[in-house]
Amino acid sequence: MKLHLVFIIILSFSIFLSGCTDQGVKIVKPSQEEVSQIKPIGDKISKELVMTLQKELKAAVQKGGLNEAINVCNMKAIPLTSIIADATDKVVHIKRTTYQFRNPDNAPDKTEMAALDYYKSLINEQKDIPPFYIQKIKKDEKTYYNYYKPMKVKAICLNCHGDTEKIKPEILKEIYKLYPDDRAVNYKNGDFRGLIRISIE
Ligand code: HEC
Repeated sequence: MKLHLVFIIILSFSIFLSGCTDQGVKIVKPSQEEVSQIKPIGDKISKELVMTLQKELKAAVQKGGLNEAINVCNMKAIPLTSIIADATDKVVHIKRTTYQFRNPDNAPDKTEMAALDYYKSLINEQKDIPPFYIQKIKKDEKTYYNYYKPMKVKAICLNCHGDTEKIKPEILKEIYKLYPDDRAVNYKNGDFRGLIRISIE
């Protein structure tokens, strides 16, 4: 009798705990009107972000000091505030996320995982992937939108995200020094790399 009770208490406690992380987060499909409000903001910010990242990457590769430039792919190195200020007066947060991340800070949360899974299922079915994807998020009392932009691997990315046998040893060494649990290698040109996520309040 007593043992049963203990078991039930443990069971209900673990159900309570496992519900905690996702508690209060609901993903809803946005209306057409909401999409037309959010899309231009997301388009503008993601476009500028991709352009800035590419420009910095190209400059770093041209300089030749790839392993000194290892941080060019870090968004902390980019003046995000000015990109946001140019695009909107709303409260905006930017992140990149992916299944195989280099920096654990970029690991997907529940809503981002749902967006990654959405893109992955289309890719698995060999369908064209949409240029953007919007989730309406209800969290506790708050409502906001997640705009996602898919990223693909290009030739230049392979310098640091390609086949480990082909990445320059000194770069690989630096990557493993900075990111001991790195998973962001062995991509091929054209692979789906992940998503830029722009939260718009
Ligand atoms: C010079 C080396 C280098 C090159 C070239 C490079 N990256 Fe990265 N990339 C990194 C490093 C280092 C990080 C980890 C940055 C951080 O700490 O957030 C990273 C992180 C990322 C992330 C964030 C997710 C994660 O894995 O943590 C994405 C997405 C990404 N890179 C995409 C690309 C794409 C797309 C290209 C080509 C256009 C590219 N990278 C080229 C070094 C590079």
